Amino acid sequence: MIPLLIAKKRDGGELSRAEIEQIVLGYVRGEVPDYQVAAWLMACYLQGLSDAETLALTEIMAASGEQVDLSAIDAPTLDKHSTGGVGDKTSLVLVPLLAAGGVAIAKMSGRGLGFTGGTVDKLESIPGYRTELTAQEMLAQVQRIGCCLAGQSASLAPADKLLYALRDATATVESIPLIAASIMSKKLAGGAQHILLDVKVGAGAFMTTRERAEQLARTLARIGEGAGRRTHAVLTDMSQPLGYTVGNALEVREAIETLRPDLPSHPRFEELVCALAGQAFALCGLEPDAERGRTRAERLLRNGDALEKFRQLVQAQGGEPRVVDDLSLLPRAPIVAEWVSPQSGYVAEVAPRAVALAALQLGAGRQKKEDAIDPAVGVEVLKSIGDPVQAGEPVFRIHARTEASLQQAMATLQNALRVSEAPVPPRAVLLD
Ligand code: URA
Repeated sequence: MIPLLIAKKRDGGELSRAEIEQIVLGYVRGEVPDYQVAAWLMACYLQGLSDAETLALTEIMAASGEQVDLSAIDAPTLDKHSTGGVGDKTSLVLVPLLAAGGVAIAKMSGRGLGFTGGTVDKLESIPGYRTELTAQEMLAQVQRIGCCLAGQSASLAPADKLLYALRDATATVESIPLIAASIMSKKLAGGAQHILLDVKVGAGAFMTTRERAEQLARTLARIGEGAGRRTHAVLTDMSQPLGYTVGNALEVREAIETLRPDLPSHPRFEELVCALAGQAFALCGLEPDAERGRTRAERLLRNGDALEKFRQLVQAQGGEPRVVDDLSLLPRAPIVAEWVSPQSGYVAEVAPRAVALAALQLGAGRQKKEDAIDPAVGVEVLKSIGDPVQAGEPVFRIHARTEASLQQAMATLQNALRVSEAPVPPRAVLLD
């Protein structure tokens, strides 16, 4: 029977929900072997999936494990997902900001792998912060303070975990319907009524072209709406690192600086946070439109309410809340050195993957799932595209554990900066 279903997909046919269920749930139960599912995945990759198939696959994966029930929460519930990028610490600011504005968020995040960092790793650089919460703990905390920021529960969408590992081993990851179904299965199982998606585009993102990012955004939104959730997707720029830090504790520091009304924040990062928050407030019906949502977000940052919510969040999850006032309580690397521009002009490129590779070489990320990370190390990016720069002016500040890793990162960063003699326009963070 399964070979007939594989053949149907191979030849461009459309599988019914029941047929997709046979394959996916059969696989989860151990009744359908890897090689048949791998062949079906390749057929999906080559032939694509219809909207109906994509929605069915997503809902089947979402229902394959625990489904969080947020119906006891009075406030509008929202989940947010970013497709990830270099220096993306948006959730650290957005979650407390939205909770301060009356949105309930039970946010589950992943660990970093390869060139992108993970929110969970970043949070664990706060002394004591606990990222492993049970479903009951999450629910109780969201009822009490309006938010939680924890690791992805292993019992959520187990079919996605199995299929993802198989896709990874069979060169079938880069299929838009498979990516969209994978992302949305976890969002649907997370139980929120509203879903905000930040699809990143550019050299530092999973989707490097605008066209593919748009396709992914539309597919994600169609799944969300098809499953009865109010969903909105935005395209944002990832042609350079987001904000000015890449590395775990450094990114927590930047998130706190953004939340603190008394400290300056990186304008592109704050712009992104306020734009996403504006969309979220509008999506949840707390403001009539995104523009007024953005004004609400700016007010919550300025009056310290978002910062106070972050402090409550850290405390609720066992972390040291004094980090909010005293950034020196975050882990710090023993060696700090600057990389200076070899020439004068205007910054034309800050290659995100080169910065990410330098951070990885310093120990901020992991190349294999089992690798340990060093929370203290990373790179500060002191210039953005369009900024004027003088020869000898610092462009990167490197935080290293050892002299050898510092030298390796310095060499990698040689490939990160391109300077133009002619002025270069700054790059907008919001694309669509
Ligand atoms: N992120 C996911 O969760 N799944 C994919 O398939 C790709 C990125």
